[in-house]
Formats: sequence, structure tokens, C-alpha cells
Amino acid sequence: MTRRRIGRHLTGGMVPDDELARTRREDELREAFSRWASGVSIVAVRSEGRVHALTVSAFIPVSLDPPLVLVSLGPNASALPYLEPGQQYGISILTADQQGLASRFADVFPVGPSPFTEGEPPLVAGALAAFSCVVEEVRPTGDHHLVLGSVVDTTSGGGDAVLLYYRRGYHRIE
Ligand SMILES: Cc1cc2nc3c(=O)[nH]c(=O)nc-3n(C[C@H](O)[C@H](O)[C@H](O)COP(=O)(O)O)c2cc1C
Repeated sequence: MTRRRIGRHLTGGMVPDDELARTRREDELREAFSRWASGVSIVAVRSEGRVHALTVSAFIPVSLDPPLVLVSLGPNASALPYLEPGQQYGISILTADQQGLASRFADVFPVGPSPFTEGEPPLVAGALAAFSCVVEEVRPTGDHHLVLGSVVDTTSGGGDAVLLYYRRGYHRIE
């Protein structure tokens, strides 16, 4: 195990930080973050009949009462401009058999028929679990945006295998 001091505090004094040091720090962080095994979800919002969706592993169930969930989105996520307070959106947890959707909504293979249900918000048909949410707050944090939402409805699927993402690869557990 390698241990490195890589950061500075958000609130602390600035440590001189050249381009090379920053790149190295990001590479090391990315490597360490990749050790976090997560599920894979699709976050989707509909605006003027169009669905804007992306693959998200940074999903956190935050609170049961009130029911709250959080996702962390990059600044270029095309869904982000539509996620304003009060907006409905969906979070769908993918089954292992839906790995193709994970690649598709990460823009790796961005083609195929719509996997979304007709209702509002757009949810992935056959997902392992799906949450209908309403945006409570969007908070820019570091180089991402934290989207906090209330869960207004939830569905849970059957005993399908779950899709996991770990060290930049997909895995399944039954
Ligand atoms: C497994 C996986 C997990 C991802 N998790 C996130 C995430 O948590 N937040 C995020 O902003 N992007 C995440 N991405 C990247 C986005 O899915 C990707 O940038 C997507 O193309 C953005 O959608 P857009 O092209 O419609 O803007 C992930 C990609 C993959 C493959």
C-alpha cells in the first residue's frame, strides 16, 4: 500500500500547486477512488419531451425520514441545467444485464432505443430499483455539483443480479 499526502484543505491556506503536482494528485485520487465499489445508476430528467440522462456511480442514500438521496454530477453533465429545485427526476439502479445502458449513458455507445418508462420522471424499465425524486438543492462543491433530492416514490425489482463498478470495470453479484 502506498501512502501519499495529496491534498490541501478547502478552507485552509493555499499550498503552491503547479500543473504537474495537480495532475499527479488527480491521478492518485482517481486510482484510490476506483477502489470504491459501487452500484451503477442512471439519472434522468425530461424537459420539453426530451430525456437527458447519464450514468452515475456517485449516488448516496442520505436519509429515511425525510427520504433524501444525493448524486454528484460533473459540471458538463448535460442533465445538470435541467435539475433545478422542484424539478422531477429519476434515479434507476441497474441490473447486471443492463450494463449496456451504463456504457450508453456514459456516452461510450450512445445509441439505442429508449429504455425509459413513459411516465414522469423517466425511469429505466426493469431496473433493480428506481426512485422518483424532486430536486431540493443543487450545491456546487469542488469541481462537481451535489444534487440533493426528496424521494417521492420508489419501486424495487425482483432478485436480479446487480451491476457493480469497481476499478474501472463492471462486475455482477447475484
Ligand atoms: C460507471 C460510471 C460511473 C459514472 N459516474 C458518474 C458520476 O457519479 N457523476 C458524473 O457526473 N458522471 C459519472 N460518470 C460519467 C458520465 O456518465 C458521463 O460523463 C456522461 O457522458 C455524462 O452525460 P452527458 O454526456 O449526457 O453529459 C460515470 C461513468 C461511468 C461509466
